[in-house]
Amino acid sequence: MLNRRSFLAASSAAALLRPGRAHASVPLQLRVGASRHQIAPPGYPETGMWTVNTQFPGPVLRLAQGERLQAEVINAIPQATALHWHGIRIDNAMDGVPGLTQAPIAPGETYLYDFALPDAGSYWYHSHAQSVEQVERGIYGALIVQEADAPEVDHDVVLILDDIRLDPSGEVSAPFDAGFDRSHGGRIGNILLTNGEAEYARPVKQGDRLRLRLISAANARIFELGLQGLEGMVVALDGMPLARPEPVEKTFVLAPAQRMDLIVDVSAEAGSDAFLIHFERDGGYAQATFPVSVGTTARRPAPGALPPNPDFPITLKGARTATVLMEGGAMGGMRGAVYDGERRDMRAIAEANMFWALNGVVGRTAEPLIEVARGESVRIGLANDTAFAHAMHLHGMHFSEVRGDGTFGPLRDTLLVAPNETREIAFAAHNPGDWLFHCHMLSHHAAGMGTFVRVT
Ligand code: C2O
Ligand code: CU
Repeated sequence: MLNRRSFLAASSAAALLRPGRAHASVPLQLRVGASRHQIAPPGYPETGMWTVNTQFPGPVLRLAQGERLQAEVINAIPQATALHWHGIRIDNAMDGVPGLTQAPIAPGETYLYDFALPDAGSYWYHSHAQSVEQVERGIYGALIVQEADAPEVDHDVVLILDDIRLDPSGEVSAPFDAGFDRSHGGRIGNILLTNGEAEYARPVKQGDRLRLRLISAANARIFELGLQGLEGMVVALDGMPLARPEPVEKTFVLAPAQRMDLIVDVSAEAGSDAFLIHFERDGGYAQATFPVSVGTTARRPAPGALPPNPDFPITLKGARTATVLMEGGAMGGMRGAVYDGERRDMRAIAEANMFWALNGVVGRTAEPLIEVARGESVRIGLANDTAFAHAMHLHGMHFSEVRGDGTFGPLRDTLLVAPNETREIAFAAHNPGDWLFHCHMLSHHAAGMGTFVRVT
């Protein structure tokens, strides 16, 4: 069980903090620096990573809903950095976006993040500076905000999924700005990881109830997943509880930055394994293995809904509207766009290693996509006129999809938009500030796919 103000690392809470350390006036220290890790399969060399507190993934930060997170970030890598607290409906000044909400943290400098945690759920933190490289190299971790009234489970398991591209030497493959990645599906790795391990395993008992907190830290891979020997419900998406939990589908998708909370019971027989599977074109592979020992075959009642987070209802009537046309990339047919203040043809844009435009502009503009007053509702139509899928992420506020029939989808902070698809999202602009709205395929963002929304 968690104490007030405790920040627990997944398994080594004691290594991270002694009791009493987590006092309100003593912020948690998060040191972004170099460390080496065995992430390639056994027999291969260790990999030089950039990590938080020498852990890969970084420490799991567990706090109670309503607490403040105070973290002093120490930059010990040779690049400027910043941490973004993905999915937290955060005070804008603490959002961690260099050039929009803060100055980057220069090498050798420190920066204090200090913010409230209004919502329970599964969130994560990651570098938001040169993120194609810094996230790939390992600057990320889980941020878990506990409900006061959490459902009872036998294991609360964070599973951060990632893929990393290693060279045969075992080092993280450079460059990070390859034109092919930027213009196609983004940087896809050649080794799949769960919590930093290529062969993640965790023992369970038959009949155990698990809360699986799936978090995708992948640069660009769209995970197609399934369960074997585990049965249950989806209870939250992108941190936010579903009003009505839904049975886990046979296959389900986790796009970059998305999260999914599942409450599942171990139905596999003792002596066998249960799995989280990821599917590739040629079949399914173990993404996480749960060796099952003797427990019970008794069935439990299905899990109920998680306690709701504070609600900011969306009003479609009178909502402010904007549209976002997504263009560019390989096979996309974009002729030209405004880049660096001038209209240029696609060849000139590609020569600058840029490839994507939102509403005819490559990269973030000085002016927001839309400026609204706090309390207004906003509808944004999204048209994907490209040959690739994009995981569109709004900072600072969760949105709902407005479905064809006018009903709302579940609250999310990241929506996967397939090629040639048109979607619409809506949100209540309850949080003042400048909020990034960008593709979370990190190479796409770096190559032009980002804008922002201003709430005054
Ligand atoms: Cu997960 Cu703009 O970030
Ligand atoms: Cu994209």
